[in-house]
Formats: sequence, structure tokens, C-alpha cells
Amino acid sequence: TQAAAALNSCEPSTFSGDEYADVDWNNLGFGLMPSDYMYTMKCSDYENFQQGKLSRYGNIEMSPSAGVLNYGQGLFEGTKAYRRENGGLFLFRPEQNAMRMQIGAERMCMPAPSVEQFVDAVKQTALANRRWIPPPGKGSLYIRPLLMGSGPILGLGPAPEYTFLIYASPVGNYFKEGTAPLNLYVEDEFFRSSHGGVGGVKSITNYAPVLKAQGRARSRGFSDVLYLNSVDKRNLEEASSCNIFIVKDGVISTPKPNGSILKGITRKSIIDIARDLGYKVEERSIPVDDLMNADEVFCSGTAVGVAPVSSITYQNKSVCYKMDAELVCRRLNSTLTGIHQGSVEDKWGWVVEI
Ligand code: COI
Repeated sequence: TQAAAALNSCEPSTFSGDEYADVDWNNLGFGLMPSDYMYTMKCSDYENFQQGKLSRYGNIEMSPSAGVLNYGQGLFEGTKAYRRENGGLFLFRPEQNAMRMQIGAERMCMPAPSVEQFVDAVKQTALANRRWIPPPGKGSLYIRPLLMGSGPILGLGPAPEYTFLIYASPVGNYFKEGTAPLNLYVEDEFFRSSHGGVGGVKSITNYAPVLKAQGRARSRGFSDVLYLNSVDKRNLEEASSCNIFIVKDGVISTPKPNGSILKGITRKSIIDIARDLGYKVEERSIPVDDLMNADEVFCSGTAVGVAPVSSITYQNKSVCYKMDAELVCRRLNSTLTGIHQGSVEDKWGWVVEI
């Protein structure tokens, strides 16, 4: 077929891509379903990335002494491409991911692509894989940019070469619960990040350390884990893969980023939407007591979207929240998805058509 020929010749521009990939779009979860192409760009002088290129998705070769493999010198990002009812394809605030990667790269002693290079690479990856962008309402194409110290290094130090790589996979709901509300476990033994550490950036090293607590919580029937500040051990930080919000008496609060909390792009968008709809939004320290006394709790993240929380368990005490149609998070989410789909005005210019 034309598609197969294009794949073999590695020329995505010759592939019409108008057809859909052979996927059961009604049953997408958040598992890896490799798409056709990935994008790679390298930097060998700590400053300038060479011209990047698309190639077939596949394994990459790396020195056993690569900085990322030995010392965890790596960052990742997550962004999504969507399809509208009219067939149009778009990205959501990809420049925010680019800027966040630059901040993270500075912290991890890595060079970073410019915002233009990053956004262009994301666009190219999305377009080359457009037959994997789900039909409207069925999910999105999750785009995963990576930045890693790919050059060899033995003594501890920054790697001599860096690779920026993007791959993509169609995804549906992040949690196995689907769109059902989450029940979260507040962890008071393990901590996600430390004061002065890298919790505020998307370092790959923030994620493996949560697996133990996450596995333990899941084996006890919880959806995920909510972490506390490692110093005061009482203020909320974030969940394993998303930010947290509480609502009390109509006021929305979320932990103030203090260097150990990731500044989520969905978090930021939700804050702007909420304020625009007239809600008071506070970024502040949130003691776990405020969480237990909240009227409503919800999570936000690129992968997770906006997810209501039905119950929280902390030190053997559980609280359940009312799950009615009037939830604040549902209103915020329908505005966010309305901006995505074009039924709500995109007054901030967040949608980037591709
Ligand atoms: C995202 O929301 O894009 C993330 O990076 C979370 C990840 C752990 C799936």
C-alpha cells in the first residue's frame, strides 16, 4: 500500500495519512501503542542542536556509558495532539512544554532545543503520525519528548553529547478506572521529592522512586498516591503523575509550586479558566487537614486530564466526597475540552493548529 511504501522509504511527507491506523479506538487506555515515526536531534557542543529528522519508530543505539543510563541525566515532557469534528488537527500549548524543558535542562546541566525547534519537532512528529490521532472524543495522540545525556561519561559530570527524541502513542483514559472518580492514598512514609531537589522539573529521576509507593497503594485498591512535603510532612505536594486541587466553599486551592512540585500545564490552564469563570483560586500551602475537610478534590495533568477524586485515605482515616453533577472540576473540564474542540472561544490562543 501507499502507507507501507512511505514507511519503508522513511518519507512521511509522501504518506497521505488521511486514513486511520488499524486501532480499536473505543478501547484506548494509556498503554504504549507505537506509531510510525520518531524524531531525533543531537547536540555535541553543549549549545547547538543539529538539524533533526524523522525516522521509523524503533530501538535506538546508545553507549553503555551514556550519561542518562549511568547518572539519570534526562528529562521528559508530555503533550497531546487532537482531532476535531471538522477533521482539523491541533496541539495544546506546546510552547509551554518547550519552556519547561529549557528550565529543566538548566537544572540538569543539559543544553535544550529552542522553543521553535521543540514546537517544530512536535508538529512534525504529530503530522507524520496523524493516522494514529484518535477520532474526536476517543482520545489523543500522546507525544513524549525526551532530552538525555546520550554521550559516554564515566566520572560524574555532564555527558559530552545530548539527544532530543520524540515518539508518540495514541491514548485514552490514563487510569484503569476510566472516567470514574479516583480514590487516593496519602503517603506518609515515602516522599516524591526533596527540598532543593528536582521535583519542580520533569527529570526522569522523579518517577522511578514513586513506583514502590504506587505499587503498594494499588495492591490495596487505591487508584494512586498523593505525596506530602518531605520537610514539613503535612502539606500536600502532588500525586505520582498529576497535580492536585481542592475546593472549599467555592474557593479553589492548589499547592503553591515551591521547587518540589511540578508546574503542570493543565494545572496552569485550569487556574486561568477558573479565574476567568469567576472563581477565587489560591496557590498556597495546603495542610492535609484541609484536604480531608474539602468539599471537592480533583487532579489535573496532561496524561490524566481533569479527574475527580471520590475518596482520600490518610493514616487509616478515609473521607468520601460528594460526587454530584455540579462538581466544579466538571465545569472547568468542560471549558477546557470545549477550547480543545472549538465549542468554547480560545481567548488565550492556546490551540495550535497543525
Ligand atoms: C503527563 O501528564 O504527561 C506526565 O508526564 C505524567 C506521566 C507520569 C504519564
